[in-house]
Amino acid sequence: MNNKKIKAILFDLDGVVLSTDHYHFLAWKQMADELAIPFTKTDNERLRGVSRMESLEIVLEKYTGAPLTAEEKVALAEKKNDAYRVYLRQMSPSDVADEVRDTLRELRRRGYRLAIGSSSKNARFILSQTEMTDFFDAIADGTDISRSKPDPEVFVKAAQFVNTDPAECAVVEDAFAGIEAAVGGGMLPVAIGSAVDCPMAVHKLTTFSDLLKLFN
Ligand code: BG6
Ligand code: MG
Repeated sequence: MNNKKIKAILFDLDGVVLSTDHYHFLAWKQMADELAIPFTKTDNERLRGVSRMESLEIVLEKYTGAPLTAEEKVALAEKKNDAYRVYLRQMSPSDVADEVRDTLRELRRRGYRLAIGSSSKNARFILSQTEMTDFFDAIADGTDISRSKPDPEVFVKAAQFVNTDPAECAVVEDAFAGIEAAVGGGMLPVAIGSAVDCPMAVHKLTTFSDLLKLFN
């Protein structure tokens, strides 16, 4: 796939534009401790790019208590989210690197449409806390989709929101599931962070501003 065809760049949020990993970890850990479930930072890595309810199922893999009803599981996910949002409320523009802001500004100056494609239902809140909403032409998030990554749905929606053919979109992702979603959606997969080990990634970034070398 040719970079020259690219007209829009679709960004995952968590782990790409900013990092909420540690807050997810603290909130899941709180819930896990209450249920005597072992939960480590390594376990937390498995939740990257995975939806909230799917994340809960992964955390519950080591649960040995009485069987939980569907309602109890929903309540647990809500409790985790309440704890997570307390951390999110502390986020501010300082949680985003200047390199990220400068790169996004320059990509936009070069004429690229920019969008968010995130599995998170908190994406809009996080973007607002960090004052990043206006850096993007559109936001597709966990509230817009019925199937989570690796399904391409969130990126297909983001491409629609910026009126761009998927074949003219690049996706920047830190999760294997997100790279797989980009490939499934017919988009150019660009990996950063943990996703650079994903064999499906076409381009690999060492640092966010490397995007300026790929898209000129
Ligand atoms: C993704 C994160 O962006 O959002 C996952 O990488 C998380 O770890 C998922 O589970 C869902 O987030 P939320 O905010 O809807 O619970
Ligand atoms: Mg991510």
